[in-house]
Amino acid sequence: MTATLTHLHAGDSIESIVAAIEADGGVIVEGLLRPDTLERFNDEITPLLEQVTPERKFLNPGLDFFFGTRTRHITAVASKSRTFVTDVLVHPVLLGLCDAILAPGCARYQLNLAHILDRGPGAEQQYIHRDELVWVHVPRPHPELQLASVIALVDFTAENGATRVVPGSHRWPWERVPETDEFAVAAMPAGSAVIYLGSTLHGGGPNSTADQWRRGMHLSYVLGWLRTEENHYLATPPAIARALPRQAQELLGYAAHDALMHGGGYLGALDLRDPVEMLADGSL
Ligand SMILES: [Fe+2]
Repeated sequence: MTATLTHLHAGDSIESIVAAIEADGGVIVEGLLRPDTLERFNDEITPLLEQVTPERKFLNPGLDFFFGTRTRHITAVASKSRTFVTDVLVHPVLLGLCDAILAPGCARYQLNLAHILDRGPGAEQQYIHRDELVWVHVPRPHPELQLASVIALVDFTAENGATRVVPGSHRWPWERVPETDEFAVAAMPAGSAVIYLGSTLHGGGPNSTADQWRRGMHLSYVLGWLRTEENHYLATPPAIARALPRQAQELLGYAAHDALMHGGGYLGALDLRDPVEMLADGSL
């Protein structure tokens, strides 16, 4: 594992972060969450994690294999954590990157998935994959579909299962298998994120520690005309979404995808109207 990822800081320019992502398929951005934000977010997450166990049901046997039995999961994060909604989902660096990488391919981008993975001792190397294969039916080549991140909510180390990324794999032929020395370990301090494209090979590393839980969050955004991995209308229904800031409502998919200005039509209407406007006027 001798490959490396560029380390930048949340205060660096969006252009420099985009350039690193386009060159390597991924980058580490340190300082994405300020220490006080990180502490507040973790304070909200800890009691949620205490209510779940790693032994749980998944959608299909493929996910049983993918996630294993040593990881605690929190989903529907927008409905459970105010800090996520106000400080993470709408983070200016993440949205700045989405503006550069996703906006050219759609009328608006949206949240794909926000998923806390607390990978416990004994968690195995995750299957190395490309996130965008959830949209396998989109013919290639295609515009960038997804921008993803794994945010370190504790320090990520090689021992506790820091995400492993294959720099350059976003440009590889689909069938090429990485050699051991082509992996980079996304070791980084808490509050940092590894940010990568949907086409970049990666996976959670093995947790070889005796007692450390590697708490991280997968947070990804997708073109507004694709179906999202998590069903946000069920995860964060109108009764909850109504109380959220408008920008969060929009990212959760309550805003119609209106491509009129691109010569197209609209998606995601309710009663031929824009649901986010209906949240605003009290009719939803
Ligand atoms: Fe992934």
